[in-house]
Amino acid sequence: MKKIFVASKNKGKISEIKSYLSPLGFEIFSLLDTPGIPEIEETGTTFEENAKIKAKAVFDIIKIPVLADDSGLEVDLLEGRPGVFSARYSGIGANDEKNNTMLLAELGETELNKRTARFKCVIVMHDGLNNRVFEGECEGIIIFQPRGNRGFGYDPLFMPVGYTKTFAELGNDIKNEISHRGKALKSLVKFLELENTM
Ligand code: IMP
Repeated sequence: MKKIFVASKNKGKISEIKSYLSPLGFEIFSLLDTPGIPEIEETGTTFEENAKIKAKAVFDIIKIPVLADDSGLEVDLLEGRPGVFSARYSGIGANDEKNNTMLLAELGETELNKRTARFKCVIVMHDGLNNRVFEGECEGIIIFQPRGNRGFGYDPLFMPVGYTKTFAELGNDIKNEISHRGKALKSLVKFLELENTM
């Protein structure tokens, strides 16, 4: 069985990736199975750079193909911020609630149609030789107050285009269908399926 190592400790992410790759015959391992791998600093200035840094650093230790991702929110009025700083947006001691409060403060009373934003996700597969890059985006707007409690991060403030509910109200099934991560994963699956046939 072919093995892939997921450079993440996030149970939700790992099980989402498993649900896509197990049917293709991959055995999935992750940082949860391998304690002792040091935290890898995200020193890049783009999602792609960060994902490549993580994938290579973990491959150098694990020596089986590694998947690493980086993702975040880009808000047009903030010229793409928080971007790669999405998790750390509100500074030392940042958490989802503080980040959301900070985002609402920065956007202030700006009208809804100017509060456009997108989630982006880049997944990199590194096998010692090649970096394969898979990307996904999801467009939406940042509403005025958090709504819903089913998500994480900026989900309660993000309403995807074509929906009247936030990611935190829509829940995982719908979110995974339309999200940045879902789209990046689907393009990874297409690549792996194609490789399987060659
Ligand atoms: P990471 O790529 O998992 O490190 O995510 C970076 C940060 O981007 C998270 O801490 C969240 O703040 C934000 N983020 C990424 N994806 C999502 C999402 O699907 N919903 C809400 N926030 C997200």
